[in-house]
Amino acid sequence: MSDGVFRVGAVADIHYGRESRGHLRSLFEEAARRVDLLLLAGDLTDYGLPEEIDLLIDDLAAAANLPIVAVLGNHDYESGREQELTERLRHAGVHLLDGEAFETEDVGVVGVKGFGGGFGRGTLEPWGEAGVKRYVQEAADESMKLERGLARLQAPRRIALLHYAPIRETVIGEPEEIFPFLGSGRLEEPLNRFEVSAVFHGHAHRGALEGRTSGGVPVYNVALPLLKHLDPEGLPFRVLELAKSVEA
Ligand SMILES: [Fe+2]
Ligand SMILES: [Fe+2]
Repeated sequence: MSDGVFRVGAVADIHYGRESRGHLRSLFEEAARRVDLLLLAGDLTDYGLPEEIDLLIDDLAAAANLPIVAVLGNHDYESGREQELTERLRHAGVHLLDGEAFETEDVGVVGVKGFGGGFGRGTLEPWGEAGVKRYVQEAADESMKLERGLARLQAPRRIALLHYAPIRETVIGEPEEIFPFLGSGRLEEPLNRFEVSAVFHGHAHRGALEGRTSGGVPVYNVALPLLKHLDPEGLPFRVLELAKSVEA
């Protein structure tokens, strides 16, 4: 866009199923008119099936003029076919990230799925049974991927795209008993250290729209069911405006 503003559109948890043909086509058309970059924060499908992702890919053609950057969510792993989903998305031109970075103009995006394990004092520690240690290791590995991706970014403005929440604040609204399954505080430290401009995530369908990390980084929960619930008449995607660092 020529007004010195770079617009990022983001949505998560679109959960395409076998009956979803055309479901969000008009949303993607609107995104194509309004933003410079479209982010999809995981749970792209219901069951992680290739036929589901193909319906989404057809609809994303409505935003073919935009760079589209995505991460997978836990639902996309359900059928053990995440590699096929990744290949199909990449073949269609979607920048599907799993620790990699995507850079456009002066904005860089690092995407990872993230994982659960809880926040703050409630963070699960790698102690006791091997199963517990494996679970914690998965969260630690995702955090490491995020950190490595952020370290490689050259762009002056950094965005993190996650599926799971990195802070407790944006899952508030969900039953407290399930907070440990909605995200991991282990994702928060790299966001602070690399002074990320904004974080987008989903997964907490009934969470809260906005929060901040301990270092003041803004975090946006863009789960589609949450956006729809809070504004039934509005467009269910979030637009963030970033001032371009060098204005024309
Ligand atoms: Fe979801
Ligand atoms: Fe999810």
